[in-house]
Amino acid sequence: MKVTIIGQGYVGLTISVFAAEHYHVIGFDLNSSVVANLNKGISHIEGVVSSDIKYAIQADKYKATNVGADITGSEIVVIAVPTPLDANRKPDLTYIDSARKVIAENLTGPALIINESTSFPGTIRNYIKPAIEKYSKVKFEHLYAISPERVDPGREDFNQKNTPRLYAGLTPEATARTRDFYSTFCDNLVEVTSPEVAEAAKLFENTFRQVNIALVNELAQISHALGIDVRETLDAAGTKPYGFMKFSPSAGVGGHCIPVDPSYLADVAEKAGIEATFIKRANEVNLAMPTYIAGRVEKDNGGSLKGKKVLVVGVAYKPNVADTRETPAELLIDALRDLGAIVTWNDPVVGSWHGAESFALAGADIAVVVTKHDVVKSEDILKSAPYVFDTTGKVKGAVQL
Ligand SMILES: NC(=O)c1ccc[n+]([C@@H]2O[C@H](COP(=O)([O-])OP(=O)(O)OC[C@H]3O[C@@H](n4cnc5c(N)ncnc54)[C@H](O)[C@@H]3O)[C@@H](O)[C@H]2O)c1
Repeated sequence: MKVTIIGQGYVGLTISVFAAEHYHVIGFDLNSSVVANLNKGISHIEGVVSSDIKYAIQADKYKATNVGADITGSEIVVIAVPTPLDANRKPDLTYIDSARKVIAENLTGPALIINESTSFPGTIRNYIKPAIEKYSKVKFEHLYAISPERVDPGREDFNQKNTPRLYAGLTPEATARTRDFYSTFCDNLVEVTSPEVAEAAKLFENTFRQVNIALVNELAQISHALGIDVRETLDAAGTKPYGFMKFSPSAGVGGHCIPVDPSYLADVAEKAGIEATFIKRANEVNLAMPTYIAGRVEKDNGGSLKGKKVLVVGVAYKPNVADTRETPAELLIDALRDLGAIVTWNDPVVGSWHGAESFALAGADIAVVVTKHDVVKSEDILKSAPYVFDTTGKVKGAVQL
């Protein structure tokens, strides 16, 4: 069976490698250098090893392409393209738009079309299906389903096989075919009664995290003002065996999901006449953390950062991955520069970012740790500057958030 996965990024490539154990997989991506590297068996995604891609290519089970006609004949098409926010922090569905078009223009028979991209409830029913029907020259009775992705890049204990996967089709047949597809490489499938439930659950999972991270970031500020150790407070609260879940303070939220998905929920809520006050406030609190941190650093350093060399340590949005999307490090660098600091950054996992290379972990007046990768040693961070501010709680001996 021929299966096309549209988008060969964190989600799409991960799925492709698992699916290639059972199907002939076409990895369709608009980025020609990603396609060229994948066809050489080179992975650009943490958690997907190059040898698995090479193996699938050699077994004639995987091919990457940016040619729409290559998806012709697919019986299943999975959409795994970015769903970011636009400049006004509203849902940007332009990648879904182009995926819909490529499907409509190139499928020559009925297929099961599954969306794994995160989006608001109603996306498959009201946004993807009607457009595919509109753009198709020949009308087919395609099946449509949702199965939101829950991959956590860099994580080893949970993967495609053992992470429970939600799914639902627009029809019972779509639901059954979706179950058959995923059951070949996922052991834990959870059927829900409508695609909208699956879409809403995915958004709520990340909204829950965004809101709780904002709450704990607010507690960090309150604790500092009161002279209380926030991490000890959280450890103490965490001894309660029920009714409490521990979240940790940080420079904010990053990545493709937590800073983005709640705004999809807020947007759809607004359209339904509900003001998502919690979601909006959580977003504001997290987005303001870099400014708060820059202010603390300034205060601790004689009330001025003018001309001071500040090194931001770790610009990836989380440890041990190279992903800088929506990283709070970016807002922190801006906030420090606004206060007159000369800012550089160090991140050996990211390497190069915004056209600049990772700077030496040494010789700064001030270091501010945003993300601590395992390969970056605390002793080296502490030696990099006479004053080190740590937002991660991992660099013992540094000034803590
Ligand atoms: N990264 C995660 O941890 C994660 C987890 C769960 C859900 N998601 C969701 O999954 C979706 C994909 O995220 P990702 O992290 O894999 O993104 P990504 O940026 O890593 O990869 C997306 C890929 O899609 C390609 N692309 C964009 N438009 C295309 C099109 N029209 N046709 C073909 N290829 C196209 C891009 O070139 C890119 O290679 C998003 O909706 C995201 O919110 C991501």
